[in-house]
Amino acid sequence: MTDMLYLTSAVCFILSLKGLSSAESARRGNLYGISGMILACIASYLALDFSSALPTMSAIAIGGGIGFFIARIVSMTSLPQLVAGFHSLVGLAAVLISFSACYAPGLFGTPPCAETHIVRLIEVGLGAAIGAVTFSGSVMAFLKLHGVYKGHGVSSSTNMFIALLMCSLFLYFVYAGDTVAFIALAALSLLFGVTLIIPIGGADMPVVVSMLNSYSGWAASGIGFTLNNDLLVITGALVGASGAILSYIMCKGMNRSLWNVIFASKQDVAANNAILSETRSYKQGAPEDAAFILKNAKSVIIVPGYGMATSKAQYALKEVGDILKKKKICVKYAIHPVAGRMPGHMNVLLAEADVPYDDVFALDEINRDFASCDVALVVGANDVTNPVAKNDRSSSIYGMPILEVEKAKTILFLKRSMGNGYAKVDNELFYAQNTMMLLGDAKKTLETVIRGIN
Ligand code: TAP
Repeated sequence: MTDMLYLTSAVCFILSLKGLSSAESARRGNLYGISGMILACIASYLALDFSSALPTMSAIAIGGGIGFFIARIVSMTSLPQLVAGFHSLVGLAAVLISFSACYAPGLFGTPPCAETHIVRLIEVGLGAAIGAVTFSGSVMAFLKLHGVYKGHGVSSSTNMFIALLMCSLFLYFVYAGDTVAFIALAALSLLFGVTLIIPIGGADMPVVVSMLNSYSGWAASGIGFTLNNDLLVITGALVGASGAILSYIMCKGMNRSLWNVIFASKQDVAANNAILSETRSYKQGAPEDAAFILKNAKSVIIVPGYGMATSKAQYALKEVGDILKKKKICVKYAIHPVAGRMPGHMNVLLAEADVPYDDVFALDEINRDFASCDVALVVGANDVTNPVAKNDRSSSIYGMPILEVEKAKTILFLKRSMGNGYAKVDNELFYAQNTMMLLGDAKKTLETVIRGIN
């Protein structure tokens, strides 16, 4: 019965991933995921003996309750931190279970480390190492994303040295089954998680979050082997593989290799550019001017970014789109793969405001349309439109593909100030001849634009 439920649950998780791969089927994918998780909990409950049922179910109820509470109160803009925080718990679980397997092998029906089979030692060593890197790395990512830690990095050669030391300790542990080597490996892995994440620059954080997601999956898979739980092995492998694929896709989107992102991290070096922006001249317009320009356009491409999320402007933006469409103006939405602060951030917000999926285009689908469009309406986006990513080799975002809004006849930039975006790089487009800056909160500006068009 338990195996049957585990198998059904694993199938649900696979269908869930399939569903989550497109916006139209994401809700269905989520339902599959929830069903799979409920089945997995029922199967685990059935597999318990009576004495452990009560503490286990209490732990599930308390953990589930805390998770439910946190998910309800967390703001949309803090979701990446939340994800990093939750990943850290998976890593911690892997470390604790590996410790139990090493120090209380009787609980798992295996002999002590020094006498156990080599495969078992590989499993326990990997579980502890990956789990510890995931745990401390995710905590560090949380602190960085939350703006608590702003310090500077550790050189890549230090990281390489720690990685080599970890490999040696791992090999020694597997060879000798030595529990002191096990503790040293876990401690060094905790340190490595921190030193690995500290130097990674702001613009690379999306890849880090997705990479930690992958690590947490492999750690869970490792726990599955230790606990002899097939479902955990399958689920962990699904999370590990999908996280790795997502990291690869993002790196491709930024024109970087994963190796380069992790070991040749770019710091937020261009902060001093912010000073320049105060002294250069730019054209500032009023929302009424924007309304006039939009009304007279034939085609408009809307580019949402992180500022749309913070000002919760998606509903006003959808209204602008709808009004323009009624006036027979062609309206499209362009989404950059790393716009906002988490993968799919903009897609979720536009879907929440009921923007039709058919109007939403990914970077490679829409980029060639900017050259023939009358207005690019950039709402709280910055880095994802910045042409220095194409022109300036010294920039921290060099190589990242951008939405080529500079090719539009007119660019309307909605943001509060002339300040920088996440990567702290000045945007040349603010000073371009065909750009009009509309400074103010995006939602308020859009509401005035709506009145202006009407
Ligand atoms: P950003 O480059 O961060 O620019 C957002 C802009 O929104 C800012 O320049 C800000 O300017 C403006 N803004 C903020 N609040 C606003 C408000 N209430 N009303 C109007 N404007 C407001 O965002 P982006 O273009 O979406 O690029 C995303 C960046 O985040 C990339 O560098 C990416 O690498 C990074 N990142 C992405 C992710 C994922 S997975 N998407 C995760 C972590 C980091 P003002 O302050 O002047 O208003």
